[in-house]
Amino acid sequence: MPDSADITSLPLLQEEALEAYSTLLHKLLDDLEEMSASEAGGCTRLLYSPSWLEAQHYLADFMKERGLGVSFDEAGNLYGCLQGTRNDAPLYTGSHIDTVQSGGKFDGALGVAAGIAALLYLKETYGEPSRSLVALSLSEEEGSRFPFAFWGSRSITGLSSWAAAGELKDAEGITLQQAAEAAGFGPDSGLRSGIEAPAGYVELHIEQGSVLERTNTSIGVVTGIVGQKRIDITVQGEANHAGTTPMSYRKDALAGAAEMISEVRKQAIAYGDPLVATVGNIEVFPGAVNVVPGTAQFTLDIRHTDQAILHEYTEFILQRIQTIADSYELIASSEEHLAVEPTPMNPTWVENTVEICEQLGLSYRKMPSGAGHDAQIFASKCDVAMIFVPSKDGISHNPLEYTSREQIDQGFKVLIELLHQYGYRGKTDEEI
Ligand code: HGY
Ligand code: MN
Ligand code: MN
Repeated sequence: MPDSADITSLPLLQEEALEAYSTLLHKLLDDLEEMSASEAGGCTRLLYSPSWLEAQHYLADFMKERGLGVSFDEAGNLYGCLQGTRNDAPLYTGSHIDTVQSGGKFDGALGVAAGIAALLYLKETYGEPSRSLVALSLSEEEGSRFPFAFWGSRSITGLSSWAAAGELKDAEGITLQQAAEAAGFGPDSGLRSGIEAPAGYVELHIEQGSVLERTNTSIGVVTGIVGQKRIDITVQGEANHAGTTPMSYRKDALAGAAEMISEVRKQAIAYGDPLVATVGNIEVFPGAVNVVPGTAQFTLDIRHTDQAILHEYTEFILQRIQTIADSYELIASSEEHLAVEPTPMNPTWVENTVEICEQLGLSYRKMPSGAGHDAQIFASKCDVAMIFVPSKDGISHNPLEYTSREQIDQGFKVLIELLHQYGYRGKTDEEI
């Protein structure tokens, strides 16, 4: 990673080429939005689904036609390589191509499209880099289809495997590996594992919050990413007749879960910012109007920038859930399926980004990320950095998600400069 002293002189951003590749970036975003439009509104590209596969192949063809070295790995991660003259470890830039159900146009897709457009701009403007630059379209980050978030980046960094995915099934009972194989991927696909230690990873992403908009700031220089835990809670009671079961005889799983869910919120408020706790989904069985619910299952998403407080709240609320279960004569069980620690970004890279914003005359703000990102997975293996651009009204994971062309272009310029620094003027691996 170049020290800030290494920045000799920022290359002039070639305005004409920049305009052309910004247009290409926005074309990619528009095309991805169109091919992933869902009936309920917004974009839906669930891992290994037809819309996900169409998007990955569209991007692969797009990059191949423009001279990048294109490959897939067995997890479905897509790579577009601008080959360097040295054989140092490559620098990755990109984001995730998957979305939440009826998600927005920009979450993930912006980083993918900007990474591709940035490499093509650099290729046209400066030719071959010294260090290879790779545009990444990561297969899966959200955990929307399978409770296996960050599968794309965790499979590349070796932090997860097909075995770890085990028998995880989607709503239709299909396992992750079955879905992968149906899409042409999987451990027996003959595609490479993708496990590689890149020299660094840079991600351009929408903020998904309202800090930049409220402070009228163009660029968020991410200093760290929250830690998060995702836990499934199952509450077991006894299904019974709604008419013949007196209130005092009931083991009502939904009534108990309702009290647990309001306790999650109440205690999170008591803990105070930046702790957030969300129950995003609840399912009730048998779910009939005239049956006392026998079972309730709900999800917990808990986040904090401090690992000790994240752990403390989690333990506390699980205790409270048990106490409430006892008071309703219910049995509560929990299964943790994601635990990611708070992750600092590389301080040198943070300062490099600040310097670039200053030299480009862009307002910026150092800030933490309340959303999880693939950058926190890569951080265990290499230097990482994230650049935020504003989200209108702070809305995300929603069809109303919006960032203006001008705001995106400002983030695009910062990304290009960072990639140029490291890819064309950075130190070799030996020098680091
Ligand atoms: O949930 C998140 O933080 C991210 O959008 N996957
Ligand atoms: Mn997201
Ligand atoms: Mn995202």
